[in-house]
Amino acid sequence: MELIVTDNYQALSQIGAEMIAGVIRAQPDAAVVLPTGDTPMGMYRELAERKRRGELDASNLRVFQLDEYLGITPDDPRSLYGWLARSLFEPLGIPDANVVRLPGDAEDQVAACRAYDQVVEAAGGFDLVVLGLGPNGHLGFNEPPADSHAPTRLVDLSEASIESSARYWGDKNLVPCQAVTAGMVQLLGARRILLVVSGAHKREILHQTIAGPVTPNVPSSYLQRVSNITVIADRDAWPSKRDE
Ligand code: F6R
Repeated sequence: MELIVTDNYQALSQIGAEMIAGVIRAQPDAAVVLPTGDTPMGMYRELAERKRRGELDASNLRVFQLDEYLGITPDDPRSLYGWLARSLFEPLGIPDANVVRLPGDAEDQVAACRAYDQVVEAAGGFDLVVLGLGPNGHLGFNEPPADSHAPTRLVDLSEASIESSARYWGDKNLVPCQAVTAGMVQLLGARRILLVVSGAHKREILHQTIAGPVTPNVPSSYLQRVSNITVIADRDAWPSKRDE
């Protein structure tokens, strides 16, 4: 595991964006997973800036949705697909046809999740998975306890995740109680993983992720077992000894 500690969120965003841009330049049609959440937004703004300057062409990228709330249509203001469309697909010029959705509004969730996993398999797995870190160690919406072999599936959201998502939508009651998430086995099997973590509120869970026991109770701790992972954390999330 490679750990890069930056002085602040801006530096984290720049380094993360450069890493993602490097993958896109090397393999323009890479199969990638990109998260929503607050943490990656700075990277997405950096990537959009590179596109505006004519330095990046992401139009052939294949994006797989990481997670979605259950029962939410793409035009619902809370849709995670909609969030990605606004913050990433539109600014980077990634066509809808290149995005594999996790349809939270599908009638048959079991079939929809199986279909998603089949597309992932047909693509030969993920080239790059970018992840944020949940307050309870969730990856996507793989809530604790999570098996490292868990496939893409419907999950009940934990209280911690509902509380954490409430800040996106302003009220806990607006957060659906269930979601679909890309599976642990698909995420952990990626050829490259980038985990981005910012803020003092992530300090404890980041420590457990990197230095704690590998346990289903902290799904992110499975990342210790993969060799192809870079963690970018800002100093607030990973203080140096003297700051602790
Ligand atoms: C979002 C997602 C979540 C977030 C995590 C951290 O698509 O899958 O796992 O990455 O909850 O969220 P932020 O970055 O808002 O702290």
